[in-house]
Amino acid sequence: MQKAVLAKLGEYEIRRCEKEDIPLVIQINMKTLPEHYSEYFYYEILSEFPETFLVAELQGVLVGYIMCRIEYGFSQLKRLALARKGHVVSVAVEEEHRNKGIGTGLILASQGEMSKRSATECYLEVRTSNAQAIALYQRVGYKPTGRLSAYYRDGEGALVMAAPIGK
Ligand code: ACO
Ligand code: ZN
Repeated sequence: MQKAVLAKLGEYEIRRCEKEDIPLVIQINMKTLPEHYSEYFYYEILSEFPETFLVAELQGVLVGYIMCRIEYGFSQLKRLALARKGHVVSVAVEEEHRNKGIGTGLILASQGEMSKRSATECYLEVRTSNAQAIALYQRVGYKPTGRLSAYYRDGEGALVMAAPIGK
């Protein structure tokens, strides 16, 4: 069966992740990020939030992913308000395919899917030293909303960033 394409960026295509993609998603995560998760965690997120777990591929080869959760709780953007929030748990693109707009494409496509699940904002944590990712998030409308000290295992702090999701 043909897999539904959510966005096209030149030769690259963004589509929903499927169970069979998880081993390759894990491989990309292992290569590109110090934050790893159990295999179970990936399958669990995929089964709970299939709409916002997306992959980018080039001619059938996976080159990136974005994995998100939908949560309900205090808004990152409006004081003391409750909101349905998309949480970008992890996003990565293979090094040789970076700077081609895929990371941006994954973020924007996931926001579109989050809004279908009634999320009005999205947020994420990023290492304070990850200038490239922070610049990308800022370009697509994320603003810093807080800091978490010693958030990562190695002691580095996180910047929390959030963006409203348009209709
Ligand atoms: N041609 C040339 N340059 C382009 C194009 C294009 N068509 N499109 C975008 N660019 C530029 C952008 O302007 C951007 O520049 P900037 O760094 O000044 O903002 C740069 O390319 C990167 O943007 P994208 O190409 O959209 O993003 P990319 O596909 O390179 O992925 C990512 C970005 C995911 C952060 C990647 O660097 C990565 O995987 N890093 C390692 C893992 C990581 O740090 N992930 C985020 C952790 S935080 C978290 O997961 C919540
Ligand atoms: Zn997080």
